[in-house]
Amino acid sequence: TTTLTPLIAGNWKMNGGRASLDELQSLADMLTTGEAPRAVVVVCPPATILAAVARQGASSGILAGGQDCHAAASGAHTGDIAAGMLADAGAQYVIVGHSERRAAYAETDADVRAKAEAAIGAGLKPIICVGEIEAERDSGNAETVVAAQLAGSIPDHAGQHEVIVAYEPVWAIGTGRTPTGEEIAQMHGRIRAILADRFGEKGAAIRILYGGSLKPQNAREILAIDNVNGGLVGGASLLAKDFYTIISAV
Ligand code: G3P
Repeated sequence: TTTLTPLIAGNWKMNGGRASLDELQSLADMLTTGEAPRAVVVVCPPATILAAVARQGASSGILAGGQDCHAAASGAHTGDIAAGMLADAGAQYVIVGHSERRAAYAETDADVRAKAEAAIGAGLKPIICVGEIEAERDSGNAETVVAAQLAGSIPDHAGQHEVIVAYEPVWAIGTGRTPTGEEIAQMHGRIRAILADRFGEKGAAIRILYGGSLKPQNAREILAIDNVNGGLVGGASLLAKDFYTIISAV
């Protein structure tokens, strides 16, 4: 049990352009007219509208985050974005090591760690993603895989900074399937133990988000599980009404 303020982050992935700013405005309206949210609310839009999201979200307390950053501060990296640039655009968070990037760009744990270090260096809070694929779950290796990802992806000085871990079982992303409550409790408990082992009492202050088919219908149950300190939401973060329902479920 922990007293961490929950955090709900929306990962818009490569969805939403300018029209999504209308959706963001609806979310802002819901957040300011309803009772004050009990969660920290973060929206991670495509980089092209990050500055607009940061600006527009400010008055309703919506914080902005990037979806990835480069490990270097600047240089000859066509198409990439440095953590400092995300910060300049108004980001306070950045997702690193999302399974879609690990898969599509062969990002390794060492790459993810370097990105998390760059994020911290730029004053951003990295949301470091881990999670097993279905075959690893089926063969009983989910915890081993996640433990190795945590060991390789989290910087050694993470205890001195605010970092966030997101557990996203790859087979639950965009599929409508989720682990059982017991499976989530088991994995989050294991992650908590790993963080405590490595970072001592600072490890107790690291939020562990659950991600993967988090929806209005299952949010209340999943977000109430021990050591689930919030959620990382894909599809259901694109509609203000659904995202607000999830935010309100903490
Ligand atoms: O980063 C969040 C994401 O991977 C989960 O996606 O659509 O299953 O909520 P979704």
